[in-house]
Amino acid sequence: MKKGDLLYQGKAKSVYKTDDPSLYIMEFRNDTSAFDGAKKASLDRKGEVNNRINAYVMEKLAAEGIPVHLKSMLDANNSLVMKLDMIPVECVVRNRAAGSLCRRLGIKEGQALVPPTYELFLKNDELHDPFINDSHALTFGWATEAQLAEMKAQTLKVNTVLSRMFDAAGMTLVDYKLEFGVSEGRIYLGDEFSPDGCRIWDKATGEKMDKDRFRQDLGNVIEFYLEVGKRLGVPL
Ligand code: ADP
Ligand code: TMP
Ligand code: ASP
Repeated sequence: MKKGDLLYQGKAKSVYKTDDPSLYIMEFRNDTSAFDGAKKASLDRKGEVNNRINAYVMEKLAAEGIPVHLKSMLDANNSLVMKLDMIPVECVVRNRAAGSLCRRLGIKEGQALVPPTYELFLKNDELHDPFINDSHALTFGWATEAQLAEMKAQTLKVNTVLSRMFDAAGMTLVDYKLEFGVSEGRIYLGDEFSPDGCRIWDKATGEKMDKDRFRQDLGNVIEFYLEVGKRLGVPL
């Protein structure tokens, strides 16, 4: 499958048309951003590492019955995906307190969250991805009631599958963000699952292994992404 016109250049990935109108190519670039694009860098190998981790995780999720947009990994930096109409709502599950939850609610980082929290954010960099609820999504037409219910069910199912998978590999899945989209009236998990969009801590030491290393200038960002992949069994 060959790349056609560039459709969208995001902060970390580019989306291309293909010969098939129902398929896109998603290119994982080395560009890295945080704080809604305010902090930027290019990190050697990041695109490849995230593309490979994403393909591995999406295939596991598909095998567990979660509808995913990934068709196949094409090469080191590119994957073939279904064309989706993206729902501009980010679905976040947290198993441990970190990040904006600590800032918003004054919760201590690391506190176990039982049951895990489920939150929605509007995907809008200019507004800094504000916290929203179902009512906002319905009123402003970002998602229907049925879509919200399906997104929540799938996001929590992902938590069951991935929490177990990371735990077995000596890591804690602290939180993660998912994006969904629609094709022919059905919801699919879109975008990516990689250390860019989740928090992962070493189970024994609590060491951060995700994009917080970049956000907080902790160093060795890609070394830790590679370690995440290696522990999961991703060919890298
Ligand atoms: P951002 O838009 O936040 O800068 P990226 O750099 O990751 O993010 O760009 C990827 C873009 O592609 C995102 O806006 C995402 O919503 C969108 N996207 C992901 N999967 C699909 C898909 N299957 N079909 C259409 N768009 C998609
Ligand atoms: P937060 O603590 O900043 O709200 O983020 C929660 C999790 O979701 C964290 O793993 C980072 C991820 N996330 C993104 O990747 N992109 C986003 O735009 C948002 C809001 C969260
Ligand atoms: N994903 C957002 C960005 O790239 C937010 C973040 O990761 O901090 O800027």
